[in-house]
Amino acid sequence: MTKGVLLILLLGLSSAARAQHRTIVDFDRGWKFHLGDLPDGQERSLNDASWRSLDLPHDWSIEGQFSATNPAGAGGGALPGGIGWYRKTFTVSASDTSRRMSVEFDGVYRNSEVWINGHDLGKRPYGYSSFSSALTPYLRAGENVIAVRVDNSKQPNSRWYSGSGIYRHTRLVTTGRVHVDHWGTYLTTPVVTADSARIDLRTSVRNDSPNDTVISLRTIIVDGAGREVSSAMSAARLPRDSVAEVVQQLVVRRPARWSIERPTLYHAVTRVDCGSGVTPCDDYTTPFGIREFVFRADSGFFLNGKHVKIRGVCLHHDLGALGAAVNDRALERQLQLMQGMGVNAIRTSHNPPAPELLDLADRMGFIVMDEAFDMWRKPKTEFDYHLDFDEWHERDISDMVRRDRNHPSVFIWSIGNEVMEQWTNGDSTAAPIARELASIVRRLDPTRPITSANNNGSTENPVFHAGALDLLGHNYHQEAWPNFPTQFPGQKFIITEAMSAYNSRGYYEQPSDSVAVYFTPYDTTQGQKPNRNYRISSYDDRRASWGSLHEESLRIFERYPFLSGMFIWSGIDYLGEPAPYEWPARSSYFGVVDLAGFPKDPYYLYQSEWTRAPMLHVFPHWNWKAGDTIDVWAYTNAQEVELFLNGASQGVRRKQGDVRHLMWRLPYTPGVLRAVARARGHVVVTQEIRTAGPAKRVVLTPDHATIQADGRDVSFVSVTIVDGKGIPVPDAEPVVHLRLDGAATIAGVDNGDEIDHEPFQRDSVRLFEGKALVIVRSSRQAGEVTLTGASTGLEPATTRISLRRAR
Ligand code: GAL
Repeated sequence: MTKGVLLILLLGLSSAARAQHRTIVDFDRGWKFHLGDLPDGQERSLNDASWRSLDLPHDWSIEGQFSATNPAGAGGGALPGGIGWYRKTFTVSASDTSRRMSVEFDGVYRNSEVWINGHDLGKRPYGYSSFSSALTPYLRAGENVIAVRVDNSKQPNSRWYSGSGIYRHTRLVTTGRVHVDHWGTYLTTPVVTADSARIDLRTSVRNDSPNDTVISLRTIIVDGAGREVSSAMSAARLPRDSVAEVVQQLVVRRPARWSIERPTLYHAVTRVDCGSGVTPCDDYTTPFGIREFVFRADSGFFLNGKHVKIRGVCLHHDLGALGAAVNDRALERQLQLMQGMGVNAIRTSHNPPAPELLDLADRMGFIVMDEAFDMWRKPKTEFDYHLDFDEWHERDISDMVRRDRNHPSVFIWSIGNEVMEQWTNGDSTAAPIARELASIVRRLDPTRPITSANNNGSTENPVFHAGALDLLGHNYHQEAWPNFPTQFPGQKFIITEAMSAYNSRGYYEQPSDSVAVYFTPYDTTQGQKPNRNYRISSYDDRRASWGSLHEESLRIFERYPFLSGMFIWSGIDYLGEPAPYEWPARSSYFGVVDLAGFPKDPYYLYQSEWTRAPMLHVFPHWNWKAGDTIDVWAYTNAQEVELFLNGASQGVRRKQGDVRHLMWRLPYTPGVLRAVARARGHVVVTQEIRTAGPAKRVVLTPDHATIQADGRDVSFVSVTIVDGKGIPVPDAEPVVHLRLDGAATIAGVDNGDEIDHEPFQRDSVRLFEGKALVIVRSSRQAGEVTLTGASTGLEPATTRISLRRAR
């Protein structure tokens, strides 16, 4: 909430009245944690003094050891699962016991059960759902104990790394007995023009008190500068024990429309007064955006009347070395990386995301496809959500829509990914399930199209026949895309998933023009022996049997306007699903960015096609053996590139036909590769790659030299090794020992190596193809911290990070 909004909210309220208001308190701090099960972990009297103290969000799996014997398997990231208990003791004032208190959990993986003072508040199997546990009436004045049991012991239950624990944020919410319901507003903008926008706001107000009451609702709309731009007043009768929906219509003149380039936000600030006087009893703020969009069968997606190609990536929820534990800055970094390559959309594969991802997408200008499930009733792994689907799907998908439907960044609902039901022709369950899920979504939000991601592209797929989808979502099979309009006449299309190319960052095999197709399970009979380190060449010439090279799908996608969007599998590497290999690999090869957040070369392919600022990316490195023949590639958005080796021109190249990269094949001699990109005869950008000499010193480069002293903010510090002239040594892989002096911690280390089995939480890191990452997390103490990196035989490096008092 902006400061302006808060101010308006608080103005005119006496302190007595304010006490009646809603308070939302961060509930993440000061929990106790016990790994393992207990018969009486929920008991108030249990002594948890010896349990570990920690702050949420917390993921215990990421603290563990990689092992082939962990039951999640390499597919689940080869980290431990198990059962864990969390407890928190907190104080409630006598006056608050008559109010209504609840704890909001954004996500607990998985099978959570919550107790307050020993009273069972219920279970939640799906680890990606947000939920609220009502603590009233079991609260007492004074100390109260909330306990949460988390059971992630039945494995495998996921095709990727899930994490374990209360891995998202929590809040303690206190309201009066008459209050706006949980996720109690629904705001739509049914009519939007350049001159005005109509805002329809539905507010569900609940009366938990023993008396009937009348309420009045005053809503003001506040623009980005904190100015009131519209208001409405409504009254309603509210019998005891009931919920009333109050509908308000407002108009915003000359609205600043939400777009990818200018994601302008407004806030609807609602104040509820109870009784005939003006006794404030609740307030509720709904951030929103004003935008208008349409999908067309022949010409794709239009936002505010402008044609936009949805250039997206699929992202899993883990944050590399931080695991599943939500960290706002780490999420922001992921989205910044994606924006840097020209991406404007995220598919939250294959589950509802942390709410902070949507807040960031609202503010940064991303289009989000919000996805509910990876399976319906048929399993993908033995203990996955299919076991809970019958009992919980209605609740889970409803909660996703209720929670997320006010976000301007959410444009598409997905009811499932590659569900097994697609494959059984004549199967009687696929169509009814698709219809049921779609009707639940539509009932709660008819304003956004519904899709599902189908890898059975055949017209026989029963999910396509269900008549449930507004957008036909296709995964892979790019050769079939041009035929869609004839195969599925009149339908609207989106490529929900594409690519699945394989690369290890910074690793290259010659020559670069022999495409390798990998089968899964990995098939050594095809002559595809993994190299010693299970690395996969980073030229765009390696792909999954069901996928494509990056260039292949990209060029088809860009050619056809009826393809409204496409989501690359995947934007960033993630833990688990180490296809084409199994153990010892434990993380993916699909990312355009590696697990540590370092871009791989195909990142620049997209940047060259999807961004305008002049760019040039030449690779590989220039440290080879004498006599090697090396393919040099360039991605650029300039007209032509001339390459020089030690001053001698190797020729000018321009993109030819459909080929999106430039290539020179050179006999290797050490020295300097220099590339000059030109547009209309002018040099627009140049790049030099030098042969590095022997490793000399360590270099530490923080992405932020100042971070907030809030116990959460992080600085991502890159570790490289340079030679005596400061040239990065591209294949350096020494272990660097870390020392952190001051009030901060090393939250994790990583290097992007898919087979590294060292735990992420340690005070040393080995470089992988010349790079590693250290994540420094602040404490709540302001000051300066010093990180030192030292390695045998090399000059050490020191970097300082300031912790600024949190505002
Ligand atoms: C897709 C699936 C993704 C991921 C990907 C790997 O079929 O939807 O979750 O498994 O394949 O190529």
